[in-house]
Amino acid sequence: MKDVNPLLSMEHVEISYQNQGKWKTIVHDVSFQLFPGEMVALTGPSGCGKSLTAHAMVGLLEKGFRVTHGQIIYKNENIIEYDERRLQQLRRDEIALFIQHSLNGLNPIQTVKRQMVETLKHKKKWDKNNIETSLYSLLNQVGFSNPEHILSLYPFELSGGMRQRILLAMMLSLQPQIFIADEPTTALDVINREKVLALLKQLQQELKLTILLISHDDKSVKKYADRVVEMDQGGIVL
Ligand SMILES: Nc1ncnc2c1ncn2[C@@H]1O[C@H](COP(=O)(O)OP(=O)(O)O)[C@@H](O)[C@H]1O
Ligand SMILES: [Mg+2]
Repeated sequence: MKDVNPLLSMEHVEISYQNQGKWKTIVHDVSFQLFPGEMVALTGPSGCGKSLTAHAMVGLLEKGFRVTHGQIIYKNENIIEYDERRLQQLRRDEIALFIQHSLNGLNPIQTVKRQMVETLKHKKKWDKNNIETSLYSLLNQVGFSNPEHILSLYPFELSGGMRQRILLAMMLSLQPQIFIADEPTTALDVINREKVLALLKQLQQELKLTILLISHDDKSVKKYADRVVEMDQGGIVL
């Protein structure tokens, strides 16, 4: 890995929150790198700032929060300096964030097909003539052997694990360089948890995706990650 440049580099990132005029630092000093094609697990106890870190990486911090120190370097640029338009581009074309509790990420009154097509349209170069083929292939990639049937269903007709895989397929359709999965399995039972993690591992290997897998449960992710970065209250444990 040493001869390769990192795809993304977090450099002494500090994240603070402003409340009634006062700044409070929540994430103190986070540094780590993501190299092309690797799966890194970011672990640490609940509340230590993992989700804030993930949101900062795609410019999606909530109102009141700001990166108050450090840099987030992606493709030789500091994304902290990006304006909203460039951040939107970054999220659409480069870094996908798959968030905690995103089981509700599907629209209950639209079929899977309709929603997947909507997502495909976000991509600039989507191929109108081969929609069906693209959708079948995406659904195959996330482990569905009967894509035609799945596409005709509504979210309530799918189990939690299936919905999670549909959301994954939608993310994949955007062909991100980096995939950040923030607690992707918390809402799932044990069997589906393992399935989703194994699937992420498989996608990493087959598509050479770079994945940041965030979890408070270090045991479950250590098995899949190439490397583990451990956070403590607001910093990195070395
Ligand atoms: N919207 C918010 N308002 C105030 N504090 C928040 C907000 N979101 C997160 N925090 C605080 O920031 C800290 C880190 O949160 P978070 O990044 O979600 O932790 P983790 O993902 O590691 O469980 C927590 O202690 C939490 O209380
Ligand atoms: Mg979190």
